[in-house]
Amino acid sequence: MSSLKIENFIKNSVIELSAYKINETESNEALKLDANESNYTLSKNIKKRYADFIKDTLINLYPDSGSKNLIKLLEKFYDTASKNFIFGNGSDELISIILLSLKKDVVVNIPSPSFSMYDIIARYNDLKINLIKLDEKYFDLPENISSNEDKSLKKIFFFSYPNNPTGSHFDRNVIIKLLENKNNIVVVDEAYIFFSNKKSFIEYISKYDNLIVLRTFSKIGLAGLRFGMLFSGDKLINEFKKIKLPYNINSLTLSSIEFFLNNFDEFDKNIKKTIKQRDKLYSALNKFNYIHVYPSDANFVLIKLKDKKLKNKFDGFLRDNNIIIRSFTGNMRLFYRITVGMPAENKKLVDYFKSFSGENNFI
Ligand SMILES: Cc1ncc(COP(=O)(O)O)c(C=O)c1O
Repeated sequence: MSSLKIENFIKNSVIELSAYKINETESNEALKLDANESNYTLSKNIKKRYADFIKDTLINLYPDSGSKNLIKLLEKFYDTASKNFIFGNGSDELISIILLSLKKDVVVNIPSPSFSMYDIIARYNDLKINLIKLDEKYFDLPENISSNEDKSLKKIFFFSYPNNPTGSHFDRNVIIKLLENKNNIVVVDEAYIFFSNKKSFIEYISKYDNLIVLRTFSKIGLAGLRFGMLFSGDKLINEFKKIKLPYNINSLTLSSIEFFLNNFDEFDKNIKKTIKQRDKLYSALNKFNYIHVYPSDANFVLIKLKDKKLKNKFDGFLRDNNIIIRSFTGNMRLFYRITVGMPAENKKLVDYFKSFSGENNFI
């Protein structure tokens, strides 16, 4: 019997991809600081009230698109009418919905480095991609990005704000300038904005009909629920509503989000703790002269090995000690992104980094 010729059915852009690799660990000993989750868990008291709240969720029925209470809570939380937002199974799904809706002659502009899913999803949608190389010193956009634009080209820009993995913000005025050209759509992905003191772009959706803002609760302690939101003006959102799958958010997640919005103080406390820990971690890591540490407005810190000869040894050290932080390839191979963990985890990490410099007297 002959076998299936995969290339007769599956797009080349899919065949050429590698599956997204998730770092899983069986070991309780591992120091896992790679996925920008929050390692804070819920207090006993909240856990009990949460269990009580969701126990009557009707899982025999398809989910509705959120109870009236949930919609009201979200309208208030984001100060936006519900007609201007949709939910996604994480903001990943919303990035996918945006890219799925685009015509093939729209060029997808993605800063490099940035969140990898913009590029991956654009690729398998067979869209043209333009990578905007960020300068390594500040990781900002090239100054001439808006003035040098070919105004006749149709473009979409993805700006993670703050940017993953650099932790820095792009210049707000440059983003606004790009929004002023109606041949551009600008996506501002605010996955990490809870940790930054910059203002959200959500309030601009009534002013700029070519603006899309993405939010998620994944980074503040609810990654497992998979709940993201997309905000935009009437024109764009009405198109996205047509391709969003009808029951994309499960009933337990919808109930949970309602409960957690009513108990947001708990998360607010943890956000503040994370910011403090991030700044402490930054200062502690900054003392090691074998790495460069980048200031961050997010829940992670980016570092770079100063000497490329250390790369193999450092990777071996991480592996041997079960330290899981995000590493990169290509021209980012000397960089590592460290998620801010609990105080004890951050201390453990700093101690490991200290012992690495101790082992390597030449550093
Ligand atoms: C910039 C950015 N956007 C979106 C996401 C995805 O978030 P979600 O968990 O809501 O799918 C991430 C996750 O790492 C991210 O870094």
